[in-house]
Amino acid sequence: MSFDSKNAVAVSHLTVQFADFVAVRDVSFSVDKGEIFGFLGANGAGKTTTIRVICGLLRPSLGEVSVGGETFQGNGDNLKRKVGYMSQRFTLYDDLTVAENLDFTASLRKLDQDYFMQRKRYLLDFIEFSYPETLFVRDLSGGIKQQVALVATLLHDPEVIFLDEPTAGVTPASRALFWSLIQKLSDQGKTVFVTSHYMDEVEHCDRIALMRAGEMIALDNPEGLKETHFPYGIYQLTPKLVSHKDWRQKFLLSPEIESFQPHGIHYHLAPAHQNSWEKLQPILSSDFESKKIKASLEDVFIKLVEGKNR
Ligand SMILES: Nc1ncnc2c1ncn2[C@@H]1O[C@H](COP(=O)(O)OP(=O)(O)O)[C@@H](O)[C@H]1O
Ligand SMILES: [Mg+2]
Repeated sequence: MSFDSKNAVAVSHLTVQFADFVAVRDVSFSVDKGEIFGFLGANGAGKTTTIRVICGLLRPSLGEVSVGGETFQGNGDNLKRKVGYMSQRFTLYDDLTVAENLDFTASLRKLDQDYFMQRKRYLLDFIEFSYPETLFVRDLSGGIKQQVALVATLLHDPEVIFLDEPTAGVTPASRALFWSLIQKLSDQGKTVFVTSHYMDEVEHCDRIALMRAGEMIALDNPEGLKETHFPYGIYQLTPKLVSHKDWRQKFLLSPEIESFQPHGIHYHLAPAHQNSWEKLQPILSSDFESKKIKASLEDVFIKLVEGKNR
């Protein structure tokens, strides 16, 4: 892969090893300027480790990363200037006020005072912050806290913004609001690299990379992922009687069925071939109401991460 300057981020054959444990194995991809790039995977898949390397916080064991055309030099400070990193665990000090937290970030970043004041004003307006800056961070709701953490991340006006599970544990309304900010940043030409566990919200990404056990197992836009993994669509089956329970066992053996997964009170069935549904429909109709639905990213995720029939 070439380190094209059009790429906001390029990762080439990245491997990260901790002692004899390989946390990231031979991962390569690039992110375009202005793209919202989703990074998905179960806990321990290697998402945070990859981000830490790209942000210049961790030296790769093998391979190269570049941000805005620059590769890891010295202690990675050259990369740190280009990126904003909102970490998964630690973002703001609870026992400092909003103003003190932002002052502290500005001093770590050695920002010029006038520039800082102007950026702070602009960014607090950007998130439509409506509280006094003298409020302690511990008194903010989870959602607002994450927005203020975003302000801190954006103070030095980074080219590429890394958000590591920014919406974990906040209310659905706050998650939606946070994603509208991500969308606005992308509209302004910023590149946003975001990890999440919530399938519904990663639908907003331009492209999604799926990590499993340190390896990247899929990379495409949301529609492409669904089309590739469910070329014959998905059927939602609703049992007419609740008493049956051996359907899964029976169906999993059918060569016409690619996958059969419980989904709340329904099942999702993916036909294995072009004409499978025509063959299955008459057999299933006595036990199930059925309707064709669009595959969701959750279907894709379950198939890829949990394996075909588990
Ligand atoms: N500094 C470290 N030393 C040893 N193992 C680590 C270290 N950092 C992460 N790991 C391990 O690497 C794997 C990937 O972790 P991580 O990148 O945090 O995954 P994710 O963010 O996808 O949940 C995990 O098994 C984790 O325990
Ligand atoms: Mg993580």
